[in-house]
Amino acid sequence: MSKHVRIAPSVLSADFAQLRDDIAMLEAGGADWIHVDVMDGRFVPNLTFGAKVIETLRRLTSLPLDVHLMVVEPERYFDDFAAAGASGLTIHSEVAPHLDRQLARIQELGCTAGVAINPSTPVGVVGDVLDKLDLLLVMSVNPGFGGQTFIGRAVDRIARARMMLNAAGSPATLQVDGGINRDTIVKCWQAGADTFVAGNAVFAAKDPQAEIGILRAQCVHTA
Ligand code: DX5
Ligand code: ZN
Repeated sequence: MSKHVRIAPSVLSADFAQLRDDIAMLEAGGADWIHVDVMDGRFVPNLTFGAKVIETLRRLTSLPLDVHLMVVEPERYFDDFAAAGASGLTIHSEVAPHLDRQLARIQELGCTAGVAINPSTPVGVVGDVLDKLDLLLVMSVNPGFGGQTFIGRAVDRIARARMMLNAAGSPATLQVDGGINRDTIVKCWQAGADTFVAGNAVFAAKDPQAEIGILRAQCVHTA
């Protein structure tokens, strides 16, 4: 199991009226990545932001921008998002029939290439593209909204994903997203995840800046 813990707060839960302050707070709290949830109102019921906001975030921080594309036909946005400053692009397997080509294209643009899988998607869907995979994102909620309840089955799915990556000798990041908090993060870490998206747990905390370190400590203490 990787010993490196990454905390990736999601700006979906940020206050956009004070985005600069919120990003500075995340940096001060030791966030490793900034998670950016792009939703198109088609793949998921919600609508969020596009290249313009990624460009703004890029000016506000030098942290990696981990862009989670919850959109149909994600390849339409690769060039714009890479140019806007995305560090990694993660696409959903459910709307990516040409994963091999799409991942290669993301890497050509200089970004790390990730695949996200919904709670009902078989983990093995990425089994034949592991050589091109920089990140596997196991969703622990049905994507579309922040603040949802963690789906317990995700823990077993993470364990299976970890076995698959290890068996292939893949160094890919194993990320989990949705309902991560002080309790759920421990189970996911023990199952083999190394990178944790947290929206509500950070932004609704009494002390959001401190919460990042508290989430990380849950993992470190149970290593
Ligand atoms: C859900 C998004 C998540 C969301 C997580 O569709 O992909 O990244 O922001 O939010 P919390 O941590 O509040 O579940
Ligand atoms: Zn996300």
